[in-house]
Amino acid sequence: MNDTVKTVTCVIIDLSKRPTNVFGPEAWETHIKCVDYFAHAFAIVLEADLRVCRLAALTHDIASLTNLNFYQDHHIHGQDLAKQLLRNLKCPHNEIKHILHCIHCHRGNQKQERNTLEAHIVASADALSHIVYFPAILRLAICVHKMPLAEAVIWSREKIMKSWEKLLPIASNYAYSPYTAILEATNEDWI
Ligand SMILES: [Fe+2]
Ligand SMILES: [Fe+2]
Repeated sequence: MNDTVKTVTCVIIDLSKRPTNVFGPEAWETHIKCVDYFAHAFAIVLEADLRVCRLAALTHDIASLTNLNFYQDHHIHGQDLAKQLLRNLKCPHNEIKHILHCIHCHRGNQKQERNTLEAHIVASADALSHIVYFPAILRLAICVHKMPLAEAVIWSREKIMKSWEKLLPIASNYAYSPYTAILEATNEDWI
């Protein structure tokens, strides 16, 4: 593994274990690690910039892990935090700019345009992680956002539907079975 990627991985794992991370240490195993895994795989298949994809995948939620107050606009605060981290690690200016764009437009409920293949890859990897780790989304709704169960199921279902819209074709092929299973399990009959 590239040294910078290795260092950033350690920084993110460390952040996820701190008590200030209200999403819990499992945020690493059930989300960030998974986003990194898919971003890595898609970057290779689609011949994108692997280092940019991995560094952006690892840092895309850095603001949420750092401070709950950043959660609402974590695509904005995350750029400042990632810029600082990557500058300290002597990453080239152009690479940092490229990574910050991926962070800025990774969210499904924001409408920022994605101008690079790497930004599409990171957004897709993020969305695919939501789908394949659906229990982590439910846990987020219930344990962090403190929603009652029925509300949590509706919120989670909507998040998954928004995630589906972010997927590149390579990711939607992979996600189709779990996606349809989630929609079936969370339909109105259940509620
Ligand atoms: Fe995010
Ligand atoms: Fe994320």
